[in-house]
Amino acid sequence: MGKLDGKVAIATGATSGMGRATAKLFAAEGAKVVVTGRNKERAKEVVDDIKAAGGEAIYVIADMANLDDVKSIFDATMDEYGTVDILFNNAGMLSMSPLMDLTIEEWTKVFNVNVTSALVLTQLVAPVMKEKGKGTIVNTCSVASFGAHHGFAAYVDSKHAMMGLTRSIAWELGPEIRCNGIAPGLIHTAMVDSIGGPSAVQQMIDQCPVQRCGQPDDIATVALFLASDDSAFIDGQIIKVDGGFEI
Ligand SMILES: NC(=O)c1ccc[n+]([C@@H]2O[C@H](COP(=O)([O-])OP(=O)(O)OC[C@H]3O[C@@H](n4cnc5c(N)ncnc54)[C@H](OP(=O)(O)O)[C@@H]3O)[C@@H](O)[C@H]2O)c1
Repeated sequence: MGKLDGKVAIATGATSGMGRATAKLFAAEGAKVVVTGRNKERAKEVVDDIKAAGGEAIYVIADMANLDDVKSIFDATMDEYGTVDILFNNAGMLSMSPLMDLTIEEWTKVFNVNVTSALVLTQLVAPVMKEKGKGTIVNTCSVASFGAHHGFAAYVDSKHAMMGLTRSIAWELGPEIRCNGIAPGLIHTAMVDSIGGPSAVQQMIDQCPVQRCGQPDDIATVALFLASDDSAFIDGQIIKVDGGFEI
């Protein structure tokens, strides 16, 4: 028996990295999963992998920068499965413009993808979860939710906002809906590969007591815990999954 048997889960940013690992784990634990992202080829691959392993999933192509697209994720979920029990707000993009070079266009895009899309989806799924009397929302925050990093202003600010949104959802949508966040440290995904060369990554590894880069499965297992009844008395928390980077 799986931990998510009979549940329907939306996983955004599930075409790669930690979202992909989480979508596969949710499906392996019995959930029907709605995989989202912009890249159709990778989305289809994730769904095919889930089905090949005996699970059930569909994909929805949506650009989280476009809030109308975001709504289409909810519509497709309701059309296909008629309900939703779990929302994993995980899609995210980096921004490496220094504060003084940030345009309002870039700021708005980063906020739409990293946090506003999560609010929009939450507002759509909440009435369904409330009516069922139960639902869980898991938000991907970051170690950047807790401190500033030079040259990453829009990203840092959006991830601070995601931490605040997580707590607001917990306060305002309980008791039926629980909401928690995950704050990954350095996790080996395409996003980290885009930051810098091996020496930049090694520098961060050197700052972790566990002395390694995290892997997408390190996040997926925590997302499963927070989405399932195993975490029934945990609400409004942001769990750091960073190998001790932030202690
Ligand atoms: N890796 C880390 O060390 C780290 C640390 C802290 C927090 N995080 C956070 O973890 C989350 C997942 O990132 P990851 O590391 O797994 O990176 P990743 O492998 O690059 O995955 C990012 C995911 O987000 C989706 N995405 C990006 N922009 C999008 C857009 N405009 N519309 C729709 N989907 C979009 C991508 O899908 P498509 O490419 O198909 O659009 C992809 O599925 C992000 O929120 C990130 O900020 C990562």
